[in-house]
Amino acid sequence: MRLQNLRILSFQVQELASTLFAPLWSSCSEQEGLLPQGRSFKAQVSADRVDAAEQSPNSSNIYSIERSAGSQAILGIMKRIASHFPLLGILVVVLLAASLSGTSVEGLATSRLKVGFYSNTACRNVETVVRAEVEKEYRKNPSIVALLLRMYFHDCFADGKCDASLLIKKNTGFGFIPTELDSGSNEGIRGLDFIDYLKRTVVLACDRKGDIVSCADIIALATRDAVALASRRAPYELKTGRLDGTESLMTNADTLPSPGSPISAIVARFEKAGFSPGETVILSGAHTVGEARCKFFSGRLSEPDPSLNTTTLASLKKICQAGGEKRAFLDQGPGSAFKVDKSYFVMLTQHKGVLQSDQDLLTDPQTKDFVQPLADGSEDNFATQFEEALKKMGNLGSFGASGNIRKMCSVLN
Ligand code: HEM
Repeated sequence: MRLQNLRILSFQVQELASTLFAPLWSSCSEQEGLLPQGRSFKAQVSADRVDAAEQSPNSSNIYSIERSAGSQAILGIMKRIASHFPLLGILVVVLLAASLSGTSVEGLATSRLKVGFYSNTACRNVETVVRAEVEKEYRKNPSIVALLLRMYFHDCFADGKCDASLLIKKNTGFGFIPTELDSGSNEGIRGLDFIDYLKRTVVLACDRKGDIVSCADIIALATRDAVALASRRAPYELKTGRLDGTESLMTNADTLPSPGSPISAIVARFEKAGFSPGETVILSGAHTVGEARCKFFSGRLSEPDPSLNTTTLASLKKICQAGGEKRAFLDQGPGSAFKVDKSYFVMLTQHKGVLQSDQDLLTDPQTKDFVQPLADGSEDNFATQFEEALKKMGNLGSFGASGNIRKMCSVLN
């Protein structure tokens, strides 16, 4: 009878252990629905561990993956203790649960990103190396700021993860699955070679095997530094530790917003990614730099759009009538095309927006209240909000992240 009771007790402790510790990994896998459907977290972890272990036995990304796998190890030990020593089992379960209660589920499900992620790795200089290269490029070619900003946005938004999935080379030939770059939304994406170059430079500078710094972090750091240069501000503090994605699907990029979409659809797309209408307006401020090809706004010229300033209309017509792949600056403010500043919003209030989706921000009920204050506010007001929104975008996909560190940014390992 006594033995029977002990068995029941032992079983209950095992169940308790399962209940208490299961969330430690299930929450990681469920967080933001990041795991591909039909793939269990267990399978994901082991695949990642093999990937990571093949790359480098010492690479820092292994640690977090091991930690997740460690939750399963804890459960195994708990179950064994409980089956042999029920009372001791209860005590250990209670003590562990108490010690983990403050941070456990949330703690293990939080982002692996942190400021200075690489500071204890062989690539502790990565931020200095990237900054020096971005600065060199910016002096030669200031449009690098626009190329990086658009790349960062498209990479992070397509599949809701800043994971460099955008960089995977276009597929050709029979039987290949089209990648994000094959999507019409990514036609005209520029600057991919620059990221390949940065990766090679980082590898030569500190990461001989190329398995420490992710391509996703290189995009995020380079964008941060480019924005700092073009806004004449100190680089904002940016968390690193992103992993590179292990797939790139055209269908994900097809969902990126289009300049012909109504603002309601654009706002809904941003809300899906966790951004408010106000943040949608702020992020659209990225069009303070860069260019758009005539085909994206020619419809507003042939049948003149009454919401377009007549001087701007004439100048855009002149650019586009030359034919071919002509481009116009998205920020039509005088002397402002390469600066990250509030001029884009001033320009919208003057009806000089080039894309329909830019100009409509001024009048749409969901966004109009945000435009005028940005135009009237200080440069600092826009810059700080823009930096915050870019940082927030950079966190997309970092919860329950899975992936690896790509050897070459344009090719999956
Ligand atoms: C709100 C919805 C948005 C729409 C509909 C949109 C659409 C477009 C289009 C059509 C172009 C011209 C592309 C070309 O001619 O190749 C463009 C360029 C650009 N977009 Fe957006 N965009 C949006 C939001 C954003 C955001 C949130 C960012 C960054 C945070 C961004 C950054 C840029 C940059 C920097 C360029 C210039 C790229 C270059 O010069 O190569 N856009 N966008």
